[in-house]
Amino acid sequence: MKKYLHLFAKVIFLFCNGIIACTSSSQTEIQYSTIMYTPDKHSFAKPEEAVVKHLDLELLVNFEDKTLCGTATWTIENHQSEYIWFDTKDLFIQEVKVDDKIVNFQLHEPLPFLGSALQIPIQPYSKTVQISYCTSPQAEALQWLTPAQTYGKRYPFLFTQSQAILARSWIPCQDSPGIRVTYEAVVRVPCGLLALMSAENPQTVSDDGVYHFRMMQPIPSYLFALAVGNITFKPISSRCGVYAEPEMIEKCFEEFSETEKMIKIAETLYGTYRWGRYDILLMPPSFPFGGMENPRLTFATPTILTGDRSLVALIAHELAHSWSGNLVTNATWNDFWINEGFTVYFEMRIMEKVAGKDYADMLALIGYYTLLQELEELNYNEDTKLKLNLEGRNPDDAVNAIAYDKGYFFLRTIEEAIGREAWDNFMQDYFNHYAFQAVDTETFLSYLEKKIWSRFPEAKKRVQPEKWVYEIGLPENCPKIYSQYYREAEEAARAFAEGEIPIHQLQIGKWYYQQWVHFLNQLPSDISLERFAELDAHFRLSESPNTEILFCWFLKSIQAGYKNVYARLQNFLTTVGRRKFVLPLYAEMLKKKELQNLASEIYHKARPYYHYVTMYSVDKLFEQYHIKVASKY
Ligand code: BES
Ligand code: ZN
Repeated sequence: MKKYLHLFAKVIFLFCNGIIACTSSSQTEIQYSTIMYTPDKHSFAKPEEAVVKHLDLELLVNFEDKTLCGTATWTIENHQSEYIWFDTKDLFIQEVKVDDKIVNFQLHEPLPFLGSALQIPIQPYSKTVQISYCTSPQAEALQWLTPAQTYGKRYPFLFTQSQAILARSWIPCQDSPGIRVTYEAVVRVPCGLLALMSAENPQTVSDDGVYHFRMMQPIPSYLFALAVGNITFKPISSRCGVYAEPEMIEKCFEEFSETEKMIKIAETLYGTYRWGRYDILLMPPSFPFGGMENPRLTFATPTILTGDRSLVALIAHELAHSWSGNLVTNATWNDFWINEGFTVYFEMRIMEKVAGKDYADMLALIGYYTLLQELEELNYNEDTKLKLNLEGRNPDDAVNAIAYDKGYFFLRTIEEAIGREAWDNFMQDYFNHYAFQAVDTETFLSYLEKKIWSRFPEAKKRVQPEKWVYEIGLPENCPKIYSQYYREAEEAARAFAEGEIPIHQLQIGKWYYQQWVHFLNQLPSDISLERFAELDAHFRLSESPNTEILFCWFLKSIQAGYKNVYARLQNFLTTVGRRKFVLPLYAEMLKKKELQNLASEIYHKARPYYHYVTMYSVDKLFEQYHIKVASKY
């Protein structure tokens, strides 16, 4: 506690001495909004009573203590309430001022994964609420990396991951996706490092370590983002570029150089890009996701750097979120498919223009297989509905293929039923009509009723939208997709498995990586270890620069007990923290009794290196097997 107070003194000193210029809160006339808020069980905020509109953030980034300290000054709109409620998680709140006067606040007992409600008394005319605070070194959104965990090995690195409900662990906020704010920030970092946010960003390192940020479009709290490190910038076009550690910048530039083209394609499909710049920040390998659509600055995993641009669909996906998600946002986490289903649909449409219909259909087919597998794994339970009920649960537990792929196929079913032209017009209207607003599943369904089904009543009968949204499993009217590329992979897998032709005669030369993955997935489970070794020797699968192939190969190898890959597997799991790869690999190892010790050993080494979200999921997995993992922190 004493330590925090000392830090506070330091922050206040810095701010007051003008080393950090004071930000001005936007002083525009407050007009009461008429926004309808869908009740959100994952937030303590009561926006219909009193709601935030703008944030002025001042933060000091301290790598030694692993803390962020400073003030969050909220411009509020009070709808006649005596209190305003915020979400916090593991924050140390030092002081709260309402319109510059210190008030007695109440920090309630923490609830599992939701954190503590912060209750602040306000007056009918109150305009600003200033919260002075420090984060905990264990703040769940934050990962503090040592220099050794970076590419350059010389400077530390910090990044945030706020989605779904982790923003509250680094900013006291009304952490509900239905509540939007504009923000400004002043962030002080050690000299020589660059700070970036989901906002207007600097392109060069500042002399004094102070950075100013501004996000003029209102965004939900899960899109607050910050990254600090030895980062450089390289432009791709006048409105788009890449940020990365210097060691990675060229590779990054090469891999993502089609981004401007993608933005143009996206705009032709569904309207102007509304966020000004679109930049990509290459994250350290421990980043728990493939990508995160932080507005103006997508965070991207380095596991998509293959050297041949074969994994850029992920950029199309994050870019698409600039419409579906960031512009039109799921009202609650129960409506998560409103973000991800639309985004996968949009991603496929972008990829269709970038790489052709056959390619996009292959992607869609992968989604189909992933979906079938997910339905089995979830046992066709309630979580296989598009509309979720996550009350009492961590929304992160429902991040699975349902929202993404069932969501995608629902929208594709509508498209096929009414024709692409009518559908695209509808989508454009939808993005414009609900721009900068939150949409729940029911709002979408009634908009669809009004704009589409009233004109296409027969199509509605064929689609059965309610069935897609409110029922478990996959409706039988789900489009069936055929892919010649996939057929080739299946044929090769059969021929190889049956020993029909020698390995060097397999026609695999110019395969897409997806064909490789499909080929591996199609191999029968009883294939001998000699044949595994043969495949590995011939195609060097254990050394694949494509992490999707590598991941699939590791998975198959674990299943088959092909021990030759274990050293590489260990290396992979102790450097890469992307949950999509890490979790299934541990899961596959734990399924085999003889590999449980190896799994524990690797996890023991790797765990301190993972971000909280990956750690949380892997911990849960080990707990299912009653295997003790190292104490939490
Ligand atoms: N917004 C998600 C990541 C996310 C979802 C973070 C839920 C926290 C909670 C992001 O857009 C995403 O979907 N990433 C995918 C990439 C993709 C191409 C499907 C990923 O990380 O794998
Ligand atoms: Zn997404």
